[in-house]
Amino acid sequence: MKPIITLASVVLALASVTAQAADPIVIKFSHVVTEDTPKGSGAALFKRLVEERLPGQVVVEVYPNSTLLRDADELEALRRNEVQLLAPSLANFQKYTKQLQVFDLPFLFDDQDSVDRFQKRAKGKQLLRSMESSGIIGLAFWHNGLKQLSATRPLRRPNDAAGLTFRIQQSSVIEAQFAQIGATSRMLPFSEVYGALQSGTVKGAENPWSNIYSKKLHTLQPYITESNHGVLDYMLVSNSAFWFSLPHSIRVVLEGIVDEVTYSVNQQAEALNKAERDRVRQSGTSEIITLTAEEREAWRNAMRPVWKQFEAEIGADIVKAAETVNRKQQGH
Ligand code: LMR
Repeated sequence: MKPIITLASVVLALASVTAQAADPIVIKFSHVVTEDTPKGSGAALFKRLVEERLPGQVVVEVYPNSTLLRDADELEALRRNEVQLLAPSLANFQKYTKQLQVFDLPFLFDDQDSVDRFQKRAKGKQLLRSMESSGIIGLAFWHNGLKQLSATRPLRRPNDAAGLTFRIQQSSVIEAQFAQIGATSRMLPFSEVYGALQSGTVKGAENPWSNIYSKKLHTLQPYITESNHGVLDYMLVSNSAFWFSLPHSIRVVLEGIVDEVTYSVNQQAEALNKAERDRVRQSGTSEIITLTAEEREAWRNAMRPVWKQFEAEIGADIVKAAETVNRKQQGH
């Protein structure tokens, strides 16, 4: 059944806005990563700029590191207007739209610049409005980075992963990706990844460098394959009833701040991931496996059937639009 905006959530949203005549509007921004990651620093910058430019009118409370909500609970809390801003990874939205699953298709994008191009084009931008019927409005795409495969044994060829269990986000595409190479997967909240790797419940994972380093996952994963096989980016989202009932003069300032913070996050994410990769290497805990072009192509070919499997539900036009942003396709 399609999720609907309940009357209660609209009333709550309106109440929190009308209360601002006397009290500042409170925006609760919850996320699951540490503060020194692209998303963590974006949330902190958003808070600083809002409080500088709308003093006494808007207060931002940031709850990092799953201190308020686990990723699995975030979006329903947003729909109840218990929090007003989130930036879940794009893998977390499949309950509300199948279209965003395009970002989970393995090896679809050549690099982060291609992802960026897609997000800025019309087909990408329209995805920000893909969850309006569920009361969720997308404000921007924020980058983290491309995911790397990590495990207790070296993964150089696709069949090296056979029989291993990987921790995954709430995504059927990612589940199919691992099934495709003979591995199994477990959907777990981000806050449980370290514990699951430590206890051996799962043997592998897939994360961008900043999430690996900031959560010390490398200390539990002796091998990390620099696979760059999938995207871990975010959509900054709000409760649409809350967002559109903000006084116009305030919303305009907030939208300007969102643009500024988005620019800053997206400018810095890649450099931050490179720096964290170096820190992982320097820590000496894990061997970093670099794939040759042929080896990467073998992984890509092994996982390509997953594109076909999900093309109809994502929309062939969206998959095609994403595919054509790659450098190779553009003849660069
Ligand atoms: C994950 O669960 O791996 C990511 O969604 C965490 C994050 O928000 O970067």
